[in-house]
Amino acid sequence: MTATPLSSARILLVVGGGIAAYKSLELIRRLRDHGTTVRVVMTAAAKHFITPLSAATLSGEPVRDELFSLTDESLIGHIELSRAADLVVVAPATANLLARMAGGLADDLATTLLLATDKRTLVAPAMNVRMWEHAATQRNVERLKADGVLFVGPEAGPMACGEFGPGRLAEPPAIIEAIERALAAGALLDDWRPRSRGPLSGRHVIVTSGPTYEPIDPVRFLGNRSSGRQGHAIAQAALSADARVTLVSGPVSLPDPIGATVIHVETAVEMRAAVEAALPADAFIGAAAVADWRVETVAGAKIKKGDRGSPTVRLVENPDILAEICNNKASRPAVVIGFAAETEDVAANASAKLHRKGCDLIVANSVAKGTSTFGGATNQVQLIDAKGAESWPSMSKADVADRIIRRLAVELSKRQ
Ligand code: C5P
Repeated sequence: MTATPLSSARILLVVGGGIAAYKSLELIRRLRDHGTTVRVVMTAAAKHFITPLSAATLSGEPVRDELFSLTDESLIGHIELSRAADLVVVAPATANLLARMAGGLADDLATTLLLATDKRTLVAPAMNVRMWEHAATQRNVERLKADGVLFVGPEAGPMACGEFGPGRLAEPPAIIEAIERALAAGALLDDWRPRSRGPLSGRHVIVTSGPTYEPIDPVRFLGNRSSGRQGHAIAQAALSADARVTLVSGPVSLPDPIGATVIHVETAVEMRAAVEAALPADAFIGAAAVADWRVETVAGAKIKKGDRGSPTVRLVENPDILAEICNNKASRPAVVIGFAAETEDVAANASAKLHRKGCDLIVANSVAKGTSTFGGATNQVQLIDAKGAESWPSMSKADVADRIIRRLAVELSKRQ
């Protein structure tokens, strides 16, 4: 096996007590496949869902679950256990475990280790959607993020309890990717206490990114060339400015920004539902290339070539998420920023769009032939507000994102 950061990593895995605990077994197995050393600690509740024996067999290490075990403590003390790891991973983290972490409790082995560790902690929450959305849980998540704790997921989808929404444990490959990125941050791990508060501290920012895929039949879809790079860079820049970020992403091949709540969707209708569920917010940035149309009737089975000639696909208009957000009387975010990809008369068309949709700023770029906006690393944009257009030089998408976020901070402070 070739050496990778994962193959030499030591992970302390804290398993909380939720139905998703079974996925932690797969996480252990996959980490072991990478050569990672995994030490498992289970809460008392976790043992209702999976057995210490399964976790011990898969990890190849004894499983610890008691704070006051003389035998365990004589083998390796709990302080040492909390430090002899490169990263502490909590998966699944229940609402209760998050609350205990946020409150700094140390009433069992898991929370004692989490408090005693000098290493960074990555948390993968899993719970019922209402519990996740509850103000108390969101407050705890905010608190933990401010303390430097990293998050992966939760993901949106159908839940074991029969409800639908954000709350599902991130899939093991996504958790492993987040672990790799947390490990790759290397020296930054020592610098994990928050320094000064960023300009978006205490703000909630919703960002949409990527394309939408509108199904034609089970195998075909209508899509577009958006890579999601600009939208994801904006989510990252908002995180760096200390915002709480909800990223609603269409299908992209980019990693989830660590620390954001990422909701993966496919269609425009799903994107609208995810955005609405994420409100209220201080700002909405619609960087997604939302398909303007969807297929009226999606075929239940693959459409076959046959002797009836080529099929006719009727399209119907998709909801305009940006315009809906702007006109949402009950919970319009204070600042709404849209994007405009134009092939001609960029500034004039974008300015018309600003008025038509009712947003505060439009980031306009040219996607005419010969530009590398779609999928490229750089972008050349014009920023349009009610007063006029401002042209920015060509720069990386990360730099464009930083400038948009700095402008957002100014706009928000003006509206206070
Ligand atoms: O009208 P047009 O598609 O050019 O507008 C682009 C802007 O509107 C982008 O910010 C995009 O995210 C948003 N949009 C949307 N819902 C649609 C179409 C576009 O939110 N159905």
